[in-house]
Amino acid sequence: GDPRLQGISDAIRVVPHFPKPGIMFQDITTLLLDPKAFQDAIDIFVERYRDMDISIVAGVEARGFMFGPAIALAIGAKFVPLRKPGKLPGEVISEDYELEYGNDRLEMHVGAVETGERVMIVDDLVATGGTLSAAIRLLERGGAEVVECGCVIGVPEFKGRRKLAGKPLYILVEPRDIAP
Ligand code: PRP
Ligand code: MG
Repeated sequence: GDPRLQGISDAIRVVPHFPKPGIMFQDITTLLLDPKAFQDAIDIFVERYRDMDISIVAGVEARGFMFGPAIALAIGAKFVPLRKPGKLPGEVISEDYELEYGNDRLEMHVGAVETGERVMIVDDLVATGGTLSAAIRLLERGGAEVVECGCVIGVPEFKGRRKLAGKPLYILVEPRDIAP
């Protein structure tokens, strides 16, 4: 495999029992504090997506915003934020999705994507896939062609399957299970 991946994994901090008992929170803020590992993560995405004729990188609020713009600028693509409800000032389309407790929603500006535009969607982590599935539905309703979803961290179920809502899924590392 890519020798850079171990450094990326090592830079992710695990916080046990956050935000709830039993959850091993994958904290990417420590990756952001490690310029070498952070750059490596961005570079791996850029190397993968630069020749796929992608005109838009769509990032999922909030943690997808920490990776998406750097990737977009490096491949010469636009960045489209997919936001939590009530944040975008213009006309929006929205998609609801289920969480373990309750629901959430993502919104995108009408007109942010043009019909047939090739998009990659980025987020920090895929767990159940509910968030990214909603993001895919949003982009497709907007007329875009979703080429792939890219995540820094993916649970092994997704790493094995590499598909999400029929779309390819690209994952850098698996969640860490040890608090150093
Ligand atoms: C987290 C994470 C992903 C999502 C993954 O976001 O950043 O977006 O959950 O979970 P899933 O695959 O089960 O849908 P969260 O909504 O907690 O908030 P944040 O990104 O705004 O911090
Ligand atoms: Mg998130």
